[in-house]
Amino acid sequence: MTAQLIDGNAIAAQIKADVASRVVALKAKGTAPGLAAIIVGDNAASISYVSGKAADCAEVGIFSETFRLPETATHEDVVRLIERLNADDRFHAILPQLPMPRQVREQEVIDAMLARKDADGLHPVNLGRLLRGELDGAIPCTPHGVMELLRATGIDPAGKHVVVVGRSTLVGRPLAVLLSNKAAGANATVTICHTGTKDLGQFTREADIVVLAAGHVNTLTAAMCRPGVVVIDVGVNRVDAPTRPSGYRLVGDAAMDVREVASYVTPYTGGVGPMTRAMLLVNTVRAAEKLARGE
Ligand SMILES: NC(=O)c1ccc[n+]([C@@H]2O[C@H](COP(=O)([O-])OP(=O)(O)OC[C@H]3O[C@@H](n4cnc5c(N)ncnc54)[C@H](OP(=O)(O)O)[C@@H]3O)[C@@H](O)[C@H]2O)c1
Repeated sequence: MTAQLIDGNAIAAQIKADVASRVVALKAKGTAPGLAAIIVGDNAASISYVSGKAADCAEVGIFSETFRLPETATHEDVVRLIERLNADDRFHAILPQLPMPRQVREQEVIDAMLARKDADGLHPVNLGRLLRGELDGAIPCTPHGVMELLRATGIDPAGKHVVVVGRSTLVGRPLAVLLSNKAAGANATVTICHTGTKDLGQFTREADIVVLAAGHVNTLTAAMCRPGVVVIDVGVNRVDAPTRPSGYRLVGDAAMDVREVASYVTPYTGGVGPMTRAMLLVNTVRAAEKLARGE
């Protein structure tokens, strides 16, 4: 069996087109959706991610502005900026790009945002709503993107055994909650695995769907899969590539031989990544729509 590659770019393009039309409708009623991104320090990856997100906003008509603070900014400086943006009506969503320098307490920065302006769905109020099955607010972008990827590909998790590898608050745990919701497009039986799991293969070999969010190369190999499994690979890992100008290339958590046994896999690039970016736009437009409705 050779796995079919899931085209995250194409699915994200459909989502962006939908967001763009919602933005037009909002603007017609006098609301211009806005996203404020915050970068603290000079982390090259953060700068590159945020410039990509700003380009996405421009593509769908969302106003965005990036606020940069120096590497030496204090925790209080960041919180003050958050409070300023909370009160700024131009912005319906705020994205504090992580990671931040060590002196900044990231959790408290997230907590300082108004829950309704939380672009990434990581505010405790939004995570709590997620746990209660209330899905009309901000949902963490990557798990939400994975759910949309499955839906758009026609892969219904209902009644299936899904193994999620990784238990972070950003990806693994919210995804397990979404997948196990008693709702259409979910209703799966979910197992969460992590570094404390003794024999990962024992679980993945029983899975209909495996979602990899470990950040570790070759976490899943063909020998750990049953034929026909669906593999959603969230992981992004740098491996040496001396012939490339950058000296590295990006790979996921699944070994290449997984493609010989799986029915569907996401590619290393153009799979989950574009979906994560698209869902940030969804969260932003949702926040603006809610405010426009007076919610
Ligand atoms: N494509 C995208 O849009 C996107 C978005 C977000 C993240 N990512 C990528 O997804 C990966 C995960 O991100 P994250 O923020 O969730 O990372 P994280 O906070 O480091 O969490 C990784 C999780 O995976 C578990 N884990 C690590 N190695 C493992 C192994 N060999 N076997 C089983 N479990 C293992 C860890 O277990 P413990 O809890 O026991 O340590 C942890 O729960 C990273 O590569 C990240 O770059 C991609």
